[in-house]
This record gives sequence, structure tokens and C-alpha cells, in this order.
Amino acid sequence: MNLFSHFRPIGLFCILILFMACKDKPNGKPGMEESLVPSLKNTFSYDFFIGAAINGGAINGSDTLALDLIRREFNSITPENIMKWEHIHPFPDKFNFEMPDKYVRLGQKNNMHIVGHTLVWHSQLAEWVAQVNDSASMAGLLTEHITKIVGRYKGKIDSWDVVNEALNEDGSLRESIFKEVLGDHYLELAFRTAAKADPEAQLVYNDYNLTHPEKREGAIRLVKNLQENGVKIDAIGMQGHWNLERPTLEEIETSILAYHKAGVKVLITELDITVLPNPWELEGAEVSQNFEGNKFMNPYPESLPDSVQNQLAERYADIFSLFAKHRDKIDRVTFWGINDGASWLNGWPIKGRTNYPLLFDRNYRPKKAYESIMKLKK
Ligand code: G3I
Repeated sequence: MNLFSHFRPIGLFCILILFMACKDKPNGKPGMEESLVPSLKNTFSYDFFIGAAINGGAINGSDTLALDLIRREFNSITPENIMKWEHIHPFPDKFNFEMPDKYVRLGQKNNMHIVGHTLVWHSQLAEWVAQVNDSASMAGLLTEHITKIVGRYKGKIDSWDVVNEALNEDGSLRESIFKEVLGDHYLELAFRTAAKADPEAQLVYNDYNLTHPEKREGAIRLVKNLQENGVKIDAIGMQGHWNLERPTLEEIETSILAYHKAGVKVLITELDITVLPNPWELEGAEVSQNFEGNKFMNPYPESLPDSVQNQLAERYADIFSLFAKHRDKIDRVTFWGINDGASWLNGWPIKGRTNYPLLFDRNYRPKKAYESIMKLKK
């Protein structure tokens, strides 16, 4: 036996290890060097995509800290605002594709799962859409809007929020300009058109409070209705604007199971956890009062006390262990923003508050909640 044959098995073993380390992972596909960096996307690479909603500063590169964080921690992006109707299609013959193009390029350059948000939504609509009042024109408009946008990003945007927030809390269909002019079947038209424009894209119905039983039933009816009519719908987007107590883990799990049973994937599309009091939960509180600067409604203007920081960390850990348990049903978990300072929850439901709903603080540093999630896989 010569020296070479002695070392050959070891050599083959090393090549195998190297090959496995470099091999694409199911989500996000980091190479060997990148996959060694501890990050959310690497930690959960065998579970689901980890996404973040991003805004202008990150898209055009001016917010370099956000950009660094996005590249390091996430393997999916969603545009928080720039693809909403009022931005992307502000006038009948005008489409604004500059920022969306940059957004898509950013995702492609970083090998990310790219989400489109959102094609049909009663809110943030361009004003002129409300003037369309006959069904043929509205059907034509919806078809043009979806075909043009989905078509432009065919094969590039992986997942589309086709219809957003079409349900009332009791599970019935919400009144909107689309329902008023086209009737209930506007959803069918929207999904059919999106599927035609990009047959490979994942098509999503996206809404909040989808853990509430009545609304959940409504969403399942909506899915079944589309399926029975031979219309493609791939996933339910549970937005996930939650708080420290609600929904309960049980409510979340029941919902994940119910949507899975209905034959669609589950996505958590807009996750954030508010730590501030909600005016609507205060019996007798007068919401029309100006709560700005009110200590009771804005209790942590300087920093978050350790006790609440710990509660938030525990809540995130509980939620993520549940998500990991159902990794076969969940395709993606997206946070609604990168860091606390940029969260919409500083301005809603009361303007000018200081909220702490995400995993990174105002200085883009990981919080205890980040560590608690990362520890789940150790
Ligand atoms: O960009 C303008 C700025 O120029 C102006 O000075 C300022 C004055 O109010 O407004 C800025 O625009 C705001 C925009 O966010 C960017 O910050 C809009 O007023 C404000 O309405 C808009 O809010 C967004 C909201 O959707 C409505 O589109 C939030 O950022 C965004 O987080 C939120 O996201 C929604 C999802 O799309 C759907 N699900 C619920 C979720 C939370 O509401």
C-alpha cells in the first residue's frame, strides 16, 4: 500500500465535507463562507425563509446600516410601501417602476426570495381608481394593473400578495371599490390574472387577524371558493401584527393547521409584536383624546425596561418554536421592518410613540429577542 492510497479515504471525506458545506441550502442558498456566519437566515435555513419589509433608504442604498443588516440576516425581502397602487400606478397611464426595479435588483443581487406587495388592496389606492364605476372598465383596469406589474417581474418576483385585507372581522367580504363595481368575483379575476401573468409565482391572500375564528373561517371559504373554481391560490399570508399576549400560541397553531388542511402553504408575512398599550382595550378610554406624549399610552419613551425586554424575548422564542414545529407548513416568516426606529408601530394607532416591536433596536443592534430566537437552534 503506498502513501497515496492510505490518504485517499481521508481526502475523499474532506472533499465530501467541503461539497456539503458549499452546497446550496434549501432557503437563501448561502455558500460555505456565508453559511458559517451566525444569522437568522442561516439559523432557520432548513425551516423557512426569513424576510424583512424594506423601504426607500435600504432600496436606494442610502441606509447602509439597514442594508448591511438585510444582507447579513435575511434571505427574503418585501417592499413595505413602494409597490402599493398609489405609488406604482398613480395615474391611469403612469406606472412608477424606478424604485420597484431597484428593489428587485437588490433582491436578485443578494440571491433573495423576492416578494411583491400588494396588487389589490382597498387602501393606499390611487384616487383616480375610485372614479371607475362600470364593471367592464374596472375589470379591464384590474387586468391591466396586474398583468403589467406581474408581467414585468415574471420569474423575478417569487411571491405575490395578490389580494390584501379583503375580509371583515366576521369573515364576510369587505366593502371596497372593487367589490362594489365588480362583485365578489373580483378576487377570482385578480388571482386568475396574476397566475396568467406569471404561472410560476406563488400567489397569496394576505390579511391580519387571521387567527380570529370567524375571520379564519372567512379566509378558508375564500380559499375553497377559488380552488373550487379552478383558480390558483398557493398560500395564506397571516400578517402577524401581534402583541405580548394575543393571539395565544394555541390560536396561532389552530390557524396554521386549519390553513394547511385547506391545502395552502402558510406564510407569516408582517410579523411585529407591540409592547405598548392599545387604546381600544381600555374600557371607557376615549380614543379621540389626543394621547400624544401621554405617559400612560407612551410608557417607554427613552428605553424599554428589562422586564418588558424579557417578556418580548420570551414571546418571540415561543412563537418561533411553534413556527419551527410547523416548518413543513410554513414557507416564510417576514418581519414588518428591520429595526424598532423604522417600525410603523411608532405611529399607529397613536402617533409619536416609542415602540419596540422588532428584533433590532434603534441602533440596528440585536435585542434580547434576537438572541432568544437564535438560541432555539443551539
Ligand atoms: O412618505 C411620506 C412622507 O413624505 C410624508 O411626509 C409622511 C407624512 O405622513 O407620510 C409618508 O408616507 C407614509 C408612509 O407610510 C411612509 O412612511 C404614509 O403617510 C403612511 O400612510 C404609510 O403607512 C404605511 C401603511 O401600510 C399604509 O400604506 C406603513 O408605512 C406600512 O407599514 C403599512 O403596512 C401595512 C401593509 O402594507 C398591509 N398590512 C398592514 C400594514 C400595517 O399597516
